[in-house]
Amino acid sequence: MTAELDAIAQKMVADGKGILAADESSGTIKKRFDAIGVESTEENRRDYRELMFRSEAMTKYISGVILYEETIRQKAKDGTPLVSLIEQAGSIPGIKVDAGAKPMPFCPGETITEGLDGLAGRLKEFYDLGARFAKWRAVIDIDTAGGIPSYASIRANAHALARYAALCQEAKIVPIVEPEVLMDGSHDIDTCYRVTEWVLKTTFEELYYQRIRLEGMVLKPNMIVPGKKAAKQASVEEVAEKTVRVLKSCVPSAVPGIAFLSGGQSDEDATAHLDAMVKLGGLPWKLTYSYGRALQAAPQKAWAGKAENVAKAQAAFTHRAHMNSLAALGQWSSEEERKAA
Ligand code: 13P
Repeated sequence: MTAELDAIAQKMVADGKGILAADESSGTIKKRFDAIGVESTEENRRDYRELMFRSEAMTKYISGVILYEETIRQKAKDGTPLVSLIEQAGSIPGIKVDAGAKPMPFCPGETITEGLDGLAGRLKEFYDLGARFAKWRAVIDIDTAGGIPSYASIRANAHALARYAALCQEAKIVPIVEPEVLMDGSHDIDTCYRVTEWVLKTTFEELYYQRIRLEGMVLKPNMIVPGKKAAKQASVEEVAEKTVRVLKSCVPSAVPGIAFLSGGQSDEDATAHLDAMVKLGGLPWKLTYSYGRALQAAPQKAWAGKAENVAKAQAAFTHRAHMNSLAALGQWSSEEERKAA
């Protein structure tokens, strides 16, 4: 079992490949579709995700896809299960299994991610549907004036992540452990560093107590960036240097790979930051992408819900995935961006 888990984890972070986060919940995908004037029907959600899964990006740059529960059971227009499309492209199907971040008692403004009850049974079902990895997202906000984050929320979220990870590994499913420190707000980059360090230290402590096999997991963290509303924004070099520094001090080298979330960064920032980190070199783990918005904003805009735009949307998705693949190899440049566009 451990060899199987390790092999999947390694495949998820294979050289020049990364993960497509296409696991938007019904509420989130509606928000994305609203922005492009598309009604969020089951058929439209299927058509949109099918176009991505049939694109060239899948065979070349996407090691795995995180699916939402609806999608893992859906069939393409021609009746092929969407999971089969992903497998046929040589990519691995994965599944989001958390039930969302809910208000946490006695911690106003903070959330605890739910979904542990009955998880063992659901994981078995998802394994039978083809899922070989899973995702659970803990959400940590920053509001230093309001005493956020609290010890209580960091500890409880880390504990839930570790319990989820243990249930996954027992079910032969690789857990993506995602403790996301949000980039909302106006905090500076060093505050993001301190909070992320605290969150990662606590998360790995809980993973240790729950006996997680580090070789059979993938970490999905935020990068170290200032809040979106911060007066002082950071250079690409500063983000890369601080992110690598915090990861080196918190993430054991037994973890095979770290796949970042994009968290609201612009497409090109997310790519440039990853590239700069890989270029620093001397890293004990692979670094790659597990982007949602930073991979999908361009194809969503190009598609706009119209069948005649499918090829254009696929090209936009493949371009973004290609740029991120170059970044994961430390071979991206803004010239590449313009050349390929
Ligand atoms: P973003 O890259 O849009 O942050 O999404 C990644 C993800 O899976 C968040 O849970």
